[in-house]
Amino acid sequence: MNCSRTLLLLLIIGLGSQVLAKPKSKSSRLPSFLKVCYRDSPELNECAKESFLVLKPRLMDGIPELYIPPMEPLVVPEVKMDQDSGAIYLHSVYKNVKITGISKHTLNDLRIEPSKHKFVVSMTFPQLHMESDYSIKGKIMMMPLLGDGRCKVDLTNITMNTELVGQEYTKHGSTFLRIIDVKVKYELSNVHMHLDNLFNGDKALGERMNDFLNENWKSLAEEVRPLLTKALVDILRASIDKLFEVFSYDELLPKMKE
Ligand SMILES: *[C@@H]1O[C@H](CO)[C@@H](O)[C@H](O)[C@H]1NC(C)=O
Repeated sequence: MNCSRTLLLLLIIGLGSQVLAKPKSKSSRLPSFLKVCYRDSPELNECAKESFLVLKPRLMDGIPELYIPPMEPLVVPEVKMDQDSGAIYLHSVYKNVKITGISKHTLNDLRIEPSKHKFVVSMTFPQLHMESDYSIKGKIMMMPLLGDGRCKVDLTNITMNTELVGQEYTKHGSTFLRIIDVKVKYELSNVHMHLDNLFNGDKALGERMNDFLNENWKSLAEEVRPLLTKALVDILRASIDKLFEVFSYDELLPKMKE
């Protein structure tokens, strides 16, 4: 369920890719392999898509210069999900979350609207596999849920749309962007999960609960949507905020003519 971090990180790459191929000034600290895209170019979106595709192989190994961790696999140390409303009462922690399948994505759309400081990315992942240590305590559709162990989740056909909106501000005489809004929307076609060691290792109860979760994945996924969306936004923000704090707007997305 924690796969979406990647999506936003991928988005960042889109943003990070509008850079000079050869740094002109000593102050440009962006990696030299990035293709420059100019914010006032009519081909901005084509350029951004192209540089994204060029970056794709590097992306999977991570780009420390841009605060992007390795993505194949992507490892998230910890994700917490707590909810006390609707049909779900849930307190859960997932540790050492490892996600595979990110490199098999398709980029559906990558758009930059410089006048609004807006960045839009849409991607589809045919198959994502997640494994982690979990700890869950709660109630789902009137049924108690309790467990502590390993969990595996397979997600099929996930399409994720991300939108960032920034605001300009001045720091040390340069223009920077502060991201003031992050929106994440996702759709998926199927979920299959397995939680080991539910109910203190009671196998019969555990299997019944796993069956129940898989049969009802659709309504459960809707129930946890706000929770999952918030978790994703929080995770993504950390990296996005760092990137925009370190690199000025003119470095990330220069103007063609000064
Ligand atoms: C994948 O999901 C999209 C909606 O997000 C849907 O239009 C498409 O038919 C799905 N494809 C498959 C193979 O399930």
